[in-house]
Amino acid sequence: MANDYVFNQPPDGIEDRANASAGRVLLGGPVALVTTAWRGKTNIVPISWHMPLSAKPPIVGIAVGQERYTAEMIQHAQEFAINIPSRLLLHHVQYLGTLSGEHVDKFEATQLETFVPKTITAPLVKGCVAWIECQVVEAYPVGDHILFAGLVTSVQVDPQSFDDRWLVGEPETRPLHFIAGNRYSTLSGVMEARVPQASEAPERILRERVAEELELTREARERREEAVGELREEVRRGHSIDPATLDDLAKSGIEVSADDLIDLSKGIVLGE
Ligand SMILES: Cc1cc2nc3c(=O)[nH]c(=O)nc-3n(C[C@H](O)[C@H](O)[C@H](O)COP(=O)(O)O)c2cc1C
Repeated sequence: MANDYVFNQPPDGIEDRANASAGRVLLGGPVALVTTAWRGKTNIVPISWHMPLSAKPPIVGIAVGQERYTAEMIQHAQEFAINIPSRLLLHHVQYLGTLSGEHVDKFEATQLETFVPKTITAPLVKGCVAWIECQVVEAYPVGDHILFAGLVTSVQVDPQSFDDRWLVGEPETRPLHFIAGNRYSTLSGVMEARVPQASEAPERILRERVAEELELTREARERREEAVGELREEVRRGHSIDPATLDDLAKSGIEVSADDLIDLSKGIVLGE
């Protein structure tokens, strides 16, 4: 039950950040789990329509369908928490989007663990990598949604995932990004954009940079094709693939999913 959360200590090692970092947490568009509490009831809902709205003071927005139970909860409570799940909660996120808190206690259904917030009453969710607490300052009806603007009252992060920006480190520390349907992704690397110096001819420098990027993309594609080819060969020989191998490849920037290997397999692809 989420209602025990007020007695649960925050996970070890999480750190405070300035409220102004809320905008940074939402950069990159990770899917959020929004939690609410009202008169002893708690609720949790995946939300992908969110955005920073103001830097000073830090205000973030979430668009919630007018008919959602969450909209009713927030209208009463005038507060909400944004929890950013890691990829370990992939299946939970999708499942939570199929249930309504009006009929189901989603914390009971998923057994997600919670802990005590710092400034509001809605529970914070363990297994997430960043947490933003908000007090509603405006609610704008926009078509069939309500845009709740929340003044940020606390930001906490797992420093393995987020420093002053998303680190894109070990796969399990990365946030999840919702694409559509039941499809999600994670960020796979960080690139640094460079701009021409004042002394350089910008159109030439930019043309060169495009060529460099194309070359890097080609190399990455070739490395991936080679890795997939080797794994498919293993599968063809009837060997199973240890999921740790896929994680190791992901760490070196080569994302290979079971789907890449299944079409050539005779059966089981992933080991044990
Ligand atoms: C990944 C994902 C993202 C979603 N994003 C939003 C969103 O931004 N706004 C919204 O109103 N509903 C969104 N939904 C749908 C709600 O999560 C879903 O309707 C939920 O069951 C509503 O729960 P409630 O009735 O307890 O509020 C999303 C669902 C998923 C799976």
